[in-house]
Amino acid sequence: MAGYVVGRVGEIPPGSRKIVDVAGRSVGVFNIGGTFYALRNACPHQGGPLCLGRIRGTTLPSAPGEYVYGREGEIIRCPWHGWEFDVTTGRTLVDPARVRVRRYEVTVEPPPAETYPVTVEDGLVVVHVERVSA
Ligand code: FES
Repeated sequence: MAGYVVGRVGEIPPGSRKIVDVAGRSVGVFNIGGTFYALRNACPHQGGPLCLGRIRGTTLPSAPGEYVYGREGEIIRCPWHGWEFDVTTGRTLVDPARVRVRRYEVTVEPPPAETYPVTVEDGLVVVHVERVSA
């Protein structure tokens, strides 16, 4: 599976999202409490821009007549018709076994070190750095 750099960790602080183009697909990258998730920015209902929706919580299982709210910041609501999805799994709240949006793996990796070609010429070690013209 090919990896695509979509930004630096600091560009997507906890509670925020960034919409990026990855290999021709619009993808929403979310930071929930320091963990990153990525969802296809196309709602499985009618293709709406799901990742632009409001992010909230939801009511949790509770006793009859009791309403317990939780999971704040983990549920996204499609801006077109209001279908709700769990950002951490891509599944809908209404029918999680059958309806879900495409989810992608996200990793956080250290930036690559800047390297330069090195050669040995007649006993001299030579580092080849491109000259920067003024
Ligand atoms: S397109 Fe998302 S709920 Fe209809």
